[in-house]
Amino acid sequence: MLTKADNELLVRIGPKTPMGELFRRFWTPVMLASELGGPDSAPVRVRILGEDLVAFRDSHGKLGLLDAYCPHRRANLFWGRNEQDGLRCVYHGWKFDVTGACTDLPNCPEGPTLKNKVKTTSYPAMERGGLIWAFMGPIDLMPEFPAIEAFAVPDDHRSITKMITVGNYAQLQEGDIDSSHVSFLHSRMDGKPIPGGRVDATVFADKQPRWFTAETDYGLMLSAQRNAGEDTFHWRVNQYLMPYAVLIAAPPGGPVLTQVRVPIDDDHSMHFRVWSNADHPLNAEELAVLNDGVTVPEVVPGTFSTKEEFENDYLIDRTDQATSSFTGIKSIVAQDLAVTQDQGGYGTIADRSREYLTSSDKAIIALRKRLLTSAKQLMQGHEPPEPRNPQAYSVRPGDFKLPRTTPVAEGAKDMLLATVR
Ligand code: FES
Ligand SMILES: [Fe+2]
Repeated sequence: MLTKADNELLVRIGPKTPMGELFRRFWTPVMLASELGGPDSAPVRVRILGEDLVAFRDSHGKLGLLDAYCPHRRANLFWGRNEQDGLRCVYHGWKFDVTGACTDLPNCPEGPTLKNKVKTTSYPAMERGGLIWAFMGPIDLMPEFPAIEAFAVPDDHRSITKMITVGNYAQLQEGDIDSSHVSFLHSRMDGKPIPGGRVDATVFADKQPRWFTAETDYGLMLSAQRNAGEDTFHWRVNQYLMPYAVLIAAPPGGPVLTQVRVPIDDDHSMHFRVWSNADHPLNAEELAVLNDGVTVPEVVPGTFSTKEEFENDYLIDRTDQATSSFTGIKSIVAQDLAVTQDQGGYGTIADRSREYLTSSDKAIIALRKRLLTSAKQLMQGHEPPEPRNPQAYSVRPGDFKLPRTTPVAEGAKDMLLATVR
């Protein structure tokens, strides 16, 4: 459990909050690159880390990410005209370029000189790996882009599904790193893995993983050890890449899942479910799995909402639950949503002062500790080291079997790291 104060510290991400400030030290994914058209195309609303922004490409294709509200009288620039290297507010015609500089102020005689003093908030943005990323922290602390493999591979090696969900980022992300729940929530009554779910059968046979957690330069290595026969242990190694991504362990021979969770505000989250191959384009067989409505859920066309949602009980099928699936809910994502969106009340933030944690929750405890420690240190003026280590992010998750005699207690980090680099 956490104290109420630490719970608040963990979940609040708006401007000037300790966790919000920490997150702003990293490149933040804000939208799919495909949501923006070409030069001078329509601006797009973006809400991220509790801030309302508007994204656009200027006439030269440069990305702009501005405060949504015009500095004149706060009209929303989303309604604006994207014309000749700037976004023009339709209320009184003030125009801003991608740096936030006012380049035209046409509704008063003092405009030509006054415009030089007017600037709106703008954040550096770049396109990388199918997403638009923004840096929302102090400009002199802007780091290099982290070497996350999923965003470095060619575009045809990667598939991204974006979802917008009710729920605070922390409880959704805690689900991502939690290997323990896979043995139950994502299981079937026959003990076999969900087809396409990319989970070794051992996970459903041994439901009591032992955790080995290790602090790393990029975040955390979270290893779950299970029995896999007399002489063998099965290891699932999830990687937490501070602060937005979790690499999910899966047996070799298929695409890797990178789960990206970004706070929209304290009560809503953006979820990018990213599947990628390091060495080959996604093939027809792999794409078919990603389109089966199980591995990746169906999304309401024209939206980022899953068809399975709280209002329709995630389309739970109680007959299926009695005979086939542990939950009766079809997609793996909706199985996760059913439990993580309703931890103590749908749409509320989980009260971690009322939990009953056990040894099965060691990874959750490690994640919270890492974030809380970093946020508290930043409050005292100590910058987080991870943004200065972009190359450390080039790791993979692990899923493998080792002889039980392999020593791991002390050397777990180095030994496991060697297998995932
Ligand atoms: S509110 Fe934007 S120009 Fe007046
Ligand atoms: Fe899950």
